Amino acid sequence: MSVPQVARKIVTAIPGPKSQTLEEEHKKYVSAGVGQGMPIFAQSASGSTITDVDGNRFIDLASGIAVTGVGNCAPEVVKAVQDEVTKLTHTNFATTPYENYIDVCKKLAEHTPGDFPKKSVLVNSGAEAVENAIKIARRYTGRSAIVVMENAFHGRTNLTMAMTTKSMPYKQGFGAFAPDIYRVPFSYPLRDAFGADGAAAAKAATDKIELLVGSANVAAIIAEPIQGEGGFIVPAEGFLSGLADWAHAHDVLYISDEIQAGFCRSGKWFACEYDGVTPDLITTAKALGGGMPIAAVTGRADIMDAVQPGGIGGTYGGNPVSCVSALAAVGIMEKLDLPAKAAHIGEVVDGLLKPLVGEVPTVAEVRGHGAMIGIEFVKAGTMEPNKELVGRITKRTIQEGLIMLTCGINGNVIRLLPPLVITDDELTEAIEVLKEIIIEESAK
Ligand SMILES: Cc1ncc(COP(=O)(O)O)c(C=O)c1O
Repeated sequence: MSVPQVARKIVTAIPGPKSQTLEEEHKKYVSAGVGQGMPIFAQSASGSTITDVDGNRFIDLASGIAVTGVGNCAPEVVKAVQDEVTKLTHTNFATTPYENYIDVCKKLAEHTPGDFPKKSVLVNSGAEAVENAIKIARRYTGRSAIVVMENAFHGRTNLTMAMTTKSMPYKQGFGAFAPDIYRVPFSYPLRDAFGADGAAAAKAATDKIELLVGSANVAAIIAEPIQGEGGFIVPAEGFLSGLADWAHAHDVLYISDEIQAGFCRSGKWFACEYDGVTPDLITTAKALGGGMPIAAVTGRADIMDAVQPGGIGGTYGGNPVSCVSALAAVGIMEKLDLPAKAAHIGEVVDGLLKPLVGEVPTVAEVRGHGAMIGIEFVKAGTMEPNKELVGRITKRTIQEGLIMLTCGINGNVIRLLPPLVITDDELTEAIEVLKEIIIEESAK
C-alpha cells in the first residue's frame, strides 16, 4: 500500500487479538441472525475515526449507516446528552410531556420541504417511522393500497418487510407478509430502458399503478429519493417529481423516505429537493439523532391530525435524551452548513474516483449526491453484477484501515457515507487507499 498512514493507525494484524477474543463471545452469545460486518470491535470514536479494542485507528466511511453525520461523539451532542440524563431520562411524552420533544418537531417543520403548517410524531427507529407514515396515510385517505419501489428498503418489521424488495436476508422465512403493497419500477439510469428520461420512467411506473391497483385505491406512494440498501441508485431527474405530480393529481399521498438520505447527507437538507418534490409526509431517522435513537414522521398538519389521539406514538418515542441529542445535531448542521460540506465531499470523491469509470473495466458507475456515493462493480466487458470483486475489495480495505459498507440488490455496490465533518486530508487518504485497492483487485 503506497498511501501513508496519517489518520489511520494499524498496529496489529486485523482482527487484533482482543477483537478475536470478543468474536468468540459474539458467536457464543449473540444471535447469528444479527449478522456481523467488520471483524473488529469498536472501543471509541471521534469525528471521522474509530479506534478498535486493539488500538487500531480506522477512517470511518460508514457513519454507522448514515447516523453520525455530525461526527462520532460530536462534543455538542455528548454535552447535551450528559446534561439531560441528570434532568430527565424518561417520562413518556403522552404521559408527562416535556419541551425538547416540541423543539425537535419545530426543527423538523423548519427544515423539511414545504411552505405550509407541519406537525410531527417522534418514534424510535426508521422502520417504526415508515410504519407510522403508512398508518397516517391510510387514516387520512381512507384507502389501503401502498405503492413501493423496486429495490426499496424500508425496514425489518412486518409491514416494512413487505415493503422491502430483497428477500435474502431481509424476508427469507419471515412471511406471511402484510397485504396491499404494490411494487413498481424505480428509475435506474445505468440499467433501465429510460436512462436519463425520468419523466418516461415515472409514466411507466404510474401506468403500472393504474393497471395493477387503480388510483382510487391508493393511499400513498413511498420512495427513497436516493435508494440506500438497494444500491445508492439516484433516479433520473423528473422521476420523483413525476410520481409526486401523479399522486397529487389523484389524491394520493406522496411519502419521501429520507431515513438514509436526509439531514444534509445528499448536499441538501433533504434529497427530494433535487427534483423539486414537496412530499406530504417525510420519514427521518439516522442522522437526525446524531448517534442517539430517534426517528420521525413529519407532514402537512391536516394529514398528521387525521389520526385519533393515542393512535400513534409509543412508550419511548421522542425520549428526552434522544431529543436533546437531535437538537444538538441539527444545531451543528446549521452552524457548519453541513449541506454545503456534503456537496464538497461529493466533489472531492468524484474528482478522485470518477476517472476509474472507463479506466477500470469493472467500475460501471460512480454515482450519488453529496456525501452519499455508490460505486457499482460489474464483470469486465459485461453489465453482470460483480459481488465477488466487492467482497475482495472490502476484505482488503478493512486491513488497510477503512470502515466501509456495501449495498445493492445484487451486493455489487460499495457505498461511501463518511461523517460530514471529515477533513479533506482524512477523506483524501481514505479514497486514495480505496482507489489503489480497487485498481489492484480489478486487475486480478
Ligand atoms: C431508507 C430507509 N428506510 C428505512 C430504514 C429502516 O431504518 P431502521 O433500521 O432504523 O429501522 C432504513 C435503514 O437503513 C433506510 O435506509
